[in-house]
Amino acid sequence: MTDRYAVIGNPIAHSKSPLIHAAFARETGEDLSYGRILGSLAGFEDEARGFFADGGRGLNVTVPFKERAWALVDARSPRAETAGSVNTLIPVPEGGLRGDNTDGVGLVRDLVANQGFRFVGSRVLLLGAGGAARGVLRPLLETGLAELVIANRTASKALDLAGSAAGLGPVLGCGLAELELIAGGGFDLILNATSAGLGGTVPTLPEACVRPDGWVYDLFYGDEPTPFCRWGDRRGAARVLDGLGMLVEQAAESFWLWRGHRPSTAPVIEMLRRLG
Ligand SMILES: NC(=O)c1ccc[n+]([C@@H]2O[C@H](COP(=O)([O-])OP(=O)(O)OC[C@H]3O[C@@H](n4cnc5c(N)ncnc54)[C@H](OP(=O)(O)O)[C@@H]3O)[C@@H](O)[C@H]2O)c1
Repeated sequence: MTDRYAVIGNPIAHSKSPLIHAAFARETGEDLSYGRILGSLAGFEDEARGFFADGGRGLNVTVPFKERAWALVDARSPRAETAGSVNTLIPVPEGGLRGDNTDGVGLVRDLVANQGFRFVGSRVLLLGAGGAARGVLRPLLETGLAELVIANRTASKALDLAGSAAGLGPVLGCGLAELELIAGGGFDLILNATSAGLGGTVPTLPEACVRPDGWVYDLFYGDEPTPFCRWGDRRGAARVLDGLGMLVEQAAESFWLWRGHRPSTAPVIEMLRRLG
């Protein structure tokens, strides 16, 4: 019988996950279907549990339910624990649900395996202190980077987030305004995990943040270059990337957790770029 998977969120019609997982299933020969579920704000927990009670084999969870999925599960991976959010639900054979968060490993794998970025010894700037920033924190701190600066419009949130991860690696938090003092010779990598791009804007950053050999990566993605990618191009960053690769890599990690097969991601990223 075909195994059933789905992504649950609200809104959900725009989700590319069904396309991505269908491509993974074709490539690996796995017999599965993957649909979209429009979750309701009042009933997410019942809908998620109901999916598994009806024989569903795995769920991805997206906005705005990732934090509620964290609270729903019976066990969590360490990276989901740190993230405070869950994007992958896995039924445990003995009963109950295990939650994982594959966003951070997706980001790191896109940068390292697909793009060839070397984290060891690097200075990295993470912009934003919301769900996405928290989600990628632990995998970033496990890369061997020399320093991670979290900068946020609301400084207190960056300080809190950095404080919560202090035992995991070299991390400090600040407000965007303080970056002038902290930027020094600039960063090897600037990650935009703010939602500013949704409104067509970019966080205001001092010029000194971008080094000529530095990379710029926007977790946001779209059919057109994102405002932050355009900003990186204008500042002369050595490489400018958007978050489409991260999207596909986080899906591949979920697929691996569910099926025990690691699909090829490059053809899927290419397909999504072509489709726009
Ligand atoms: N590629 C992927 O697979 C992937 C996965 C997850 C998320 N994402 C992307 O990550 C982004 C952030 O999502 P999220 O869930 O973390 O959102 P969120 O929890 O709502 O957090 C938003 C963050 O952006 C900051 N911000 C918003 N507008 C800003 C502006 N105009 N200038 C400066 N900072 C601003 C907020 O700062 P304050 O605290 O000051 O309000 C906050 O830190 C979204 O674009 C999302 O699409 C991509």
